[in-house]
Amino acid sequence: MCNLRMIVLFLCVLLMATLGGCSKANEPIPPTYSTNLNTDEIRNSAFQALFPFQYETYLRNNESEIMTEYKGSVPYNKHDNVNPLPEGYKHAQPYLKNLWLGYPFSYEYREARGHTHAMKDILSIDRVNRYSEKAGLPATCMNCKTAKMNTFLKEEGDDFWAKDFNQFREKVDLDDDTIGCANCHDPKTMALNLYSVPLKDYLKSQNKEFEKLPRNEQRALVCGQCHVEYYFQDKSFGPYKKVVFPWKDGMDPEDMYNYYSDKGDNKTPGFEGYFVDWVHPVSQTPMLKAQHPEYETWSNGVHGSAGVTCADCHMSYTRLDGKKKISNHHWTSPLKDPEMNACRQCHTDKTPEFLKQRVLYTQNKVWNQLLAAQEISVKAHEAIRMASEYKGPRPDNYNELMTNARKWCRKGQFFWDLVSAENSVGFHNPSKALDTLASSQRFSQNAVDTAVKATSFTIAKSISEDIKTRVPPILKHSRELQMDPKHMTTHPWFKYIPLSPKTPLMWDLNKKIGKASVKSVPDGHETASKSATPINTQTH
Ligand code: HEC
Ligand code: HEC
Ligand code: HEC
Ligand code: HEC
Repeated sequence: MCNLRMIVLFLCVLLMATLGGCSKANEPIPPTYSTNLNTDEIRNSAFQALFPFQYETYLRNNESEIMTEYKGSVPYNKHDNVNPLPEGYKHAQPYLKNLWLGYPFSYEYREARGHTHAMKDILSIDRVNRYSEKAGLPATCMNCKTAKMNTFLKEEGDDFWAKDFNQFREKVDLDDDTIGCANCHDPKTMALNLYSVPLKDYLKSQNKEFEKLPRNEQRALVCGQCHVEYYFQDKSFGPYKKVVFPWKDGMDPEDMYNYYSDKGDNKTPGFEGYFVDWVHPVSQTPMLKAQHPEYETWSNGVHGSAGVTCADCHMSYTRLDGKKKISNHHWTSPLKDPEMNACRQCHTDKTPEFLKQRVLYTQNKVWNQLLAAQEISVKAHEAIRMASEYKGPRPDNYNELMTNARKWCRKGQFFWDLVSAENSVGFHNPSKALDTLASSQRFSQNAVDTAVKATSFTIAKSISEDIKTRVPPILKHSRELQMDPKHMTTHPWFKYIPLSPKTPLMWDLNKKIGKASVKSVPDGHETASKSATPINTQTH
């Protein structure tokens, strides 16, 4: 360590004194460094000797056992409210596999844990097809798991995004290439830095430069590289499958929903030009899958609008050697700390118990509405299914009603998902979370009512039954189970997805363990033995 020319220049203590104010905790201004690392150094291990304290806290992201009331770091199945930890948890939403049927998310979706697990977790999750040469998912998924992303981009250009994910499996190291220093820092100076092309694209569209933004904005934007809603671009709009943030019209649910209405090439009547992630096989609805919009949710909440950033609560200052204050690089729930120190930098007059109860107060209310919204979404798919199979006399405007029912269904589920996928159970912005869920319930109920109308109210009685009896939650489903004819008889909705051909596992993390049964098809292209993905789709 001593042989390193690391010049630490503390930028004037005087400036620090001007910081004050409740919204800006006592922040030491970070020093400027001059490391001897290359600008494109991405290996996490290369930073260890230079920054042992930050690194020590970084390794704490390996912790994967501690839970809080709603969150925490045990990667349980987020739909399983039947089994105990680590498989399931009391606060799980039982209908996730139903709502995402036909889409890789229905195979496996787990609670998030620390950044050091990110690479291993994406390589073992059942969403990415490990039973086939091809993942059925674009390489784009690497974007939020590794800074090596930029090496790949340099090598492959914009063709990178749409290449198959499995092509890059063997090129990543499980630890050195997981989310790390180079994702947020310039290796030479350790100044905050964006590695993410999609976020840089967005800032450029706003005529902003990251380097010139106030430090506080930078402390949130580094997280906004990944903790955001996003989609994979359609061909006619630019590089295929490139990640784009749907923020052109704003970051609220309605803005993002409208954005997607002309960003695709869908041909379904009523949905022409829509961007579509997949078509729900039961209701034939062109759907959107929302992703973790922490940044958008936080941005206009109580804390976001007061300038309190992600780093204030998730990286609060800590002392390791008894002297120097450093930013804690263990990104996790602030509720794991019994002293609630992250919060009490600012809320100095409050007890830890009071603050914890305030968080739970919001989360309990949001969770109840989340469960309600989830059920009405299921009801919407079921009502549309019944109406589309309805053989009785149809009203003249039947087709129009069915299109409208599907539009409400798409919108209702997207709004539910924006809160469901957001990781704070409403805390980042309580009023927005509740408004989004109230809207979701209204939209999904519109879908049910419109489908009922399309049958001249014939299905009204059946659809008013308890949805849990009509459509039970799907507890078990995976790529492997979809290859088992017996499993495929265990739920009424499984008849809307195909049985997959039996195929052995081909990948174990970043190693190939099986052989593709490659066969030639008439047009000369080679395809691996049929992928277990039921429909031609992507996931993120
Ligand atoms: C997800 C983003 C992110 C990652 C990954 C990350 N950092 Fe940081 N780091 C930050 C933020 C935010 C700050 C606070 C900067 C500020 O307040 O201006 C910070 C501050 C620092 C500082 C300045 C001193 C301090 O403690 O505040 C050092 C040194 C540092 N990080 C080293 C590292 C090392 C080494 C790694 C890899 C093991 C790493 N960081 C990974 C976001 C990150
Ligand atoms: C390169 C993309 C990326 C960046 C940048 C990033 N994250 Fe994450 N974050 C992830 C992924 C992916 C996971 C889930 C990892 C897993 O479950 O394997 C995650 C998980 C988390 C978790 C859950 C950890 C737990 O204990 O359960 C927290 C909290 C978190 N991130 C906060 C932050 C904050 C705060 C920042 C900015 C300082 C940040 N992240 C920047 C991608 C990112
Ligand atoms: C005012 C404090 C505060 C701010 C600011 C804040 N968070 Fe959080 N965050 C929380 C709390 C509290 C929770 C709920 C933790 C729980 O329930 O255990 C949470 C939860 C999370 C989680 C899930 C943690 C887990 O255990 O799985 C992630 C990820 C996350 N926040 C990311 C972010 C990002 C990214 C930002 C900035 C865009 C941000 N947070 C801003 C306080 C904050
Ligand atoms: C950097 C300073 C800072 C940090 C850290 C911080 N807060 Fe706050 N908090 C604020 C500010 C500023 C407000 C806005 C109201 C005000 O001006 O008092 C606020 C408001 C609140 C409110 C009232 C919300 C409402 O709807 O009016 C609660 C509850 C709260 N914070 C809880 C927390 C918790 C829990 C944490 C830690 C996870 C936390 N805060 C971390 C600065 C902070």
